[in-house]
Amino acid sequence: MDLSAARQLINPEVRGLRAYHLNPEHVSVKLNQNENPFDWPASVKEEVAAFTRTRPWNRYPEFVPGRLNEAVAAYAGVGADQVIVGNGSNEMLLVLLLALSSSTRPLITCQPTFTVYRLLAAGLGRDHEPAYLTDNLAYDIDAILGVREDAPRGVILLCSPNNPTGSALSEEQMRAVLDFHEGFCIVDQAYVEFGGYDATPLLAQYPNLIITRTFSKAFGAAGMRLGYLIGAAEVVAEVRKIKLPYNVNFFSSYAATVLLSHADMARERAAVIVQERDRIGRFLRDIPRLTAFESSANFILIRVPDKDALVRSLRGEDILVRDVSSYPMLDNCLRLSVGTREENDRLMAGLARHYAA
Ligand SMILES: Cc1ncc(COP(=O)(O)O)c(C=O)c1O
Repeated sequence: MDLSAARQLINPEVRGLRAYHLNPEHVSVKLNQNENPFDWPASVKEEVAAFTRTRPWNRYPEFVPGRLNEAVAAYAGVGADQVIVGNGSNEMLLVLLLALSSSTRPLITCQPTFTVYRLLAAGLGRDHEPAYLTDNLAYDIDAILGVREDAPRGVILLCSPNNPTGSALSEEQMRAVLDFHEGFCIVDQAYVEFGGYDATPLLAQYPNLIITRTFSKAFGAAGMRLGYLIGAAEVVAEVRKIKLPYNVNFFSSYAATVLLSHADMARERAAVIVQERDRIGRFLRDIPRLTAFESSANFILIRVPDKDALVRSLRGEDILVRDVSSYPMLDNCLRLSVGTREENDRLMAGLARHYAA
């Protein structure tokens, strides 16, 4: 078989995708991936390192990471049987789509949103039905309910706060969807520690609700690759059957329990990021040529008249932001992650110089 014949054998839905790509760029102010700007102190890392030095590397992790499940559940305020922890919340989303979606239960998302949802649907050969946000990028419940009419058992996947717009759903909006929908509703709350309604209390009332969360944002542990899902215990027990065994390595598993024991530090840092986000927001609203959208997350979406020129100016000052203008509805838009106070000062000085010119 020649190479082109082999390529033709790859599922057409996958071949039809544009690769999700991020150039590895080394800059001094990196505001393009919604990472937490604060690393963990050496003393905390040392707790994990000490364990790693003594724990045998030749043995698998525990089959059920009991301590980790307990610690995550205590943090989220749910029972340990309501939680599955995985290799990033992306893995949890894949597991959920494997368990819940099908040829007759397509994925319904609100566009523009996190690109990975569409990639997962394509990889699994599932149909993907978009509902759109309003013109000012708020959630449009009527649009969601309209799209689900053709797929009453479809899997609605909502991102709140939403990446890359920062929009969040209110409790009433979530209830409006859950009261009406006869299929599962996944709410991706990767950014919930920075704002927006935390849907966890709704789990007691809606067994068709599943929430995904992560250690990559407020917990400042993107490099650990840890995320989790929360749902009704009986539903979670079914989903757990198709999770890969040993999906969390012993290092990350132990690190998560250590980080959770320092949850106060994560909360304080998240509060600083929220203050900084609001400081940047106020600054942006004073620049007449630019529109800054309301955000409940650790980033702000802006629309500018001269996107490429602005990206070049900032790059010239060694500042990297994310161009999201290829997303639906986001012509001329950039996403600015919130950094440390010093990084944010440099970003604002760069924007001020660009728009003064
Ligand atoms: C909305 C959303 N969900 C999930 C993720 C992925 O998180 P994780 O690092 O836990 O896989 C991201 C990462 O940027 C995100 O923006």
